[in-house]
Amino acid sequence: MVRKHIARFLCDKLRNALGILLLSAAIVPSPADAKKALTIDELAMMYDIKTCAGCHEEKYEEWKTSSMGNSVTDPRVLRAMRTFIRLAIDREEALERKDLTICLDCHVPQIKDASPELILHIGDLVLTSVEERNAAKREAAIKELSKLNINCRVCHNLKSTGYYVKPREDVIYGPRSIDYSPHEGIGFSTVRSDFMKTSEFCAQCHHCPPAVLWKECPTIYTSYIDDFVSKGHTDTCQDCHMKGQELSHRFLGPSDPDFLSSAVSMTVNARATRYIDIYENNKMPAVVVIVELASHAGHEIPHG
Ligand code: HEC
Ligand code: HEC
Ligand code: HEC
Ligand code: HEC
Ligand code: HEC
Repeated sequence: MVRKHIARFLCDKLRNALGILLLSAAIVPSPADAKKALTIDELAMMYDIKTCAGCHEEKYEEWKTSSMGNSVTDPRVLRAMRTFIRLAIDREEALERKDLTICLDCHVPQIKDASPELILHIGDLVLTSVEERNAAKREAAIKELSKLNINCRVCHNLKSTGYYVKPREDVIYGPRSIDYSPHEGIGFSTVRSDFMKTSEFCAQCHHCPPAVLWKECPTIYTSYIDDFVSKGHTDTCQDCHMKGQELSHRFLGPSDPDFLSSAVSMTVNARATRYIDIYENNKMPAVVVIVELASHAGHEIPHG
């Protein structure tokens, strides 16, 4: 019943999200004694990246404009979360307002350190950001919510070690072995994570958790494995979306016109011919057009 309701207005991924909630509740119990943030500012402070931005200015500027740098305040995301609250959570007995974590777990993984009160507050802000008539109040809610996103410490710590290995809190994980300690001054050691170079790193959010059956979770990642990797291609998500060596943190997507146009090539072949109309018994000039459309993305397009 719950699934049916959500299916009516949200995409496949969101439908799967419910399964994910139940599963993740079963497989990763969070420690009861961990300190939980009571306000958005407290949570943002726990994952502060001001220092990172100071030394990694270019990566910061790129990331800030990326989709994942705005993973809550994207207007589509806000509207969809509002719909989820109004049409699913508020109507289904099995769901409560705190179950907005179904969305937040991927869109802002730091949410694992938020208190239940804070999750309710975030839900209220989402509603205000969409429903409030007063523009100033709407803007204020969006400004608060913009402190929540997928930032440096989400990828370079929380998500760096995969589903089965817990990351160490005082470590910045990166793709290389660095033999000096650029991060000692801010209380972190630097550790190499080969996992970060794999597509499975991205699949942690762009696909369902391992416990969900493959055929029950059709995502961009299933299409990547079934239609691309299985045909012998070896490019990773990072190779295309971070431009390989460049490791661009804009995480290029379809909103970048050049990147989008790299996704397909089209050849058109046309030749003149004659068309015979067998009913009217006459001949007329015509053209045969052969269009070849090839996808160069590592998965089916469009998707999502
Ligand atoms: C398993 C992780 C995961 C969960 C759970 C999840 N999302 Fe997403 N969401 C993503 C990823 C990854 C993208 C971007 C990829 C894409 O666009 O295909 C995305 C994109 C979106 C978009 C952009 C629209 C689009 O199709 O590009 C909206 C809106 C959205 N999510 C809303 C939600 C809402 C509302 C919930 C909760 C009901 C939710 N998401 C739960 C991972 C998740
Ligand atoms: C969505 C996940 C994600 C986010 C968010 C993210 N990174 Fe990264 N970052 C990666 C991945 C993945 C790699 C390595 C990719 C590879 O080597 O294939 C990387 C690599 C790097 C590198 C190494 C670059 C090099 O040339 O070796 C630096 C430095 C870095 N990130 C800094 C940052 C900073 C600073 C932020 C925040 C402003 C940030 N990252 C946010 C995923 C992320
Ligand atoms: C005092 C300056 C400084 C600060 C602050 C800083 N970094 Fe770095 N970081 C560096 C330097 C220097 C390197 C090495 C760059 C190189 O060798 O190209 C580095 C490398 C990295 C790498 C790449 C590691 C690898 O394996 O290639 C990542 C990822 C990274 N930093 C993330 C972060 C994050 C996240 C923060 C904030 C929590 C941060 N840094 C704060 C100076 C800093
Ligand atoms: C912590 C979860 C998480 C991780 C890890 C992650 N993503 Fe995302 N990604 C998201 C969410 C959520 C969105 C949607 C944000 C929005 O719509 O505002 C997204 C959006 C995107 C988009 C933009 C899609 C669009 O429709 O514009 C691209 C491209 C992307 N991610 C690529 C990657 C790549 C490549 C990696 C691995 C290097 C990665 N992501 C790792 C959660 C994640
Ligand atoms: C061979 C290059 C290539 C590889 C490999 C690749 N992508 Fe893409 N991806 C593209 C291109 C090009 C587009 C833009 C076309 C589009 O969005 O329709 C795109 C689009 C996307 C989008 C936006 C989809 C949409 O239609 O909104 C997401 C999200 C994404 N990719 C994630 C991933 C993830 C996650 C992986 C790894 C599992 C991956 N990609 C592997 C080239 C690639």
